[in-house]
Amino acid sequence: MNQLFRPAANTIARLSLLASLLAGVVILALLLVNDQSPYTRASVGIAIEQPVRFSHKLHSDQLNIECLYCHATAEQSSYGGIPDTHTCMSCHSQIATYSTLLEPVRTSYATGERLVWEKVHDLAEHVYFNHSIHVQAGFACETCHGRVDQMVVAWQAQNMTMDWCLECHWEPEEYIRPVEEVYTFGYEAPEDQVELGMQLVAFHEIDVDRLDSCSICHR
Ligand code: HEC
Ligand code: HEC
Ligand code: HEC
Ligand code: HEC
Ligand code: HEC
Repeated sequence: MNQLFRPAANTIARLSLLASLLAGVVILALLLVNDQSPYTRASVGIAIEQPVRFSHKLHSDQLNIECLYCHATAEQSSYGGIPDTHTCMSCHSQIATYSTLLEPVRTSYATGERLVWEKVHDLAEHVYFNHSIHVQAGFACETCHGRVDQMVVAWQAQNMTMDWCLECHWEPEEYIRPVEEVYTFGYEAPEDQVELGMQLVAFHEIDVDRLDSCSICHR
């Protein structure tokens, strides 16, 4: 065989091949480490300290106030939305006005200074998420946020890694519900979930093939 490269060039080619293989391994390792890093995953399952001891269990389960009352934007926009002081005071200007737990709410209302709630969920900047697209296509609050209606203090129920998003983007028929069940908690999937799911996916004209392309989530 004709020698196309000088022996030295050959060595360099081999070395650089080896180097890029090594770089690949290092990147993979970093990704794996990052995936388990306490800094990126610490919030899963951990209750977050808030300026007011607001209980979803009390308001959503016991008092039966709809999620929409406080998170109306989840259905219409990309953002889930955190209610402002006025929303609380629509009731608490008359209800539990004696409560010391509500002192920061009353102060905020009187001064006009907004309450600063700690974020429970916080995806990295390089990821784009949109609520309305999911909610309007029949994906429930419960599927992504767990039993919020039972939480005394809100916490993150799913790890919300890329793998987690993709599990559903590959097989949305496993999770999709009729839209009227989007606010149901404790929903039990029917036995023919996959069959029904396929029909719902078709009904909403969901193009599953494009749901794992990098550019829809990393824009
Ligand atoms: C009376 C108002 C109210 C209602 C009703 C309500 N929420 Fe909330 N929600 C809040 C407030 C205030 C916060 C911010 C404080 C906290 O995290 O507990 C919040 C936080 C959240 C968070 C975490 C947000 C973050 O920081 O990432 C989720 C998820 C959530 N609510 C979902 C729901 C769901 C699902 C329902 C219906 C079962 C619901 N909420 C009903 C007021 C409400
Ligand atoms: C397909 C999954 C999914 C569904 C369905 C879903 N959420 Fe979320 N939600 C998320 C993710 C992901 C975040 C974090 C977004 C971020 O940090 O940028 C989030 C964040 C939130 C927040 C905090 C504010 C924000 O937008 O960052 C609230 C409040 C919330 N969701 C409420 C709801 C309610 C109410 C429903 C049902 C109507 C719902 N979500 C349905 C995935 C979902
Ligand atoms: C639709 C009416 C309604 C809205 C809106 C509402 N609440 Fe309440 N909240 C209630 C009722 C009713 C109680 C129970 C009062 C009682 O036990 O006497 C309550 C109780 C509470 C308590 C416990 C008070 C205590 O001392 O036990 C806190 C804290 C609270 N709410 C915070 C909030 C915050 C913060 C918001 C706004 C994000 C909010 N609520 C919005 C109706 C509402
Ligand atoms: C339980 C199922 C489910 C989960 C979990 C889920 N998605 Fe989706 N997502 C879908 C489906 C189905 C669609 C397509 C909806 C349609 O076409 O009407 C979609 C659409 C999207 C779109 C819009 C694509 C476009 O441009 O039309 C974005 C962006 C997106 N998802 C991001 C995310 C991210 C980021 C996560 C994780 C944090 C996530 N999704 C988790 C089911 C899910
Ligand atoms: C369905 C949405 C979705 C799609 C599609 C997607 N990603 Fe991601 N990606 C995410 C989420 C969510 C994270 C984690 C963000 C976080 O940890 O807060 C992430 C993180 C990453 C990271 C950072 C490493 C890490 O672990 O945080 C890289 C690199 C990445 N994605 C590359 C890609 C590439 C390349 C593709 C296409 C093959 C792709 N992503 C497709 C949602 C998506």
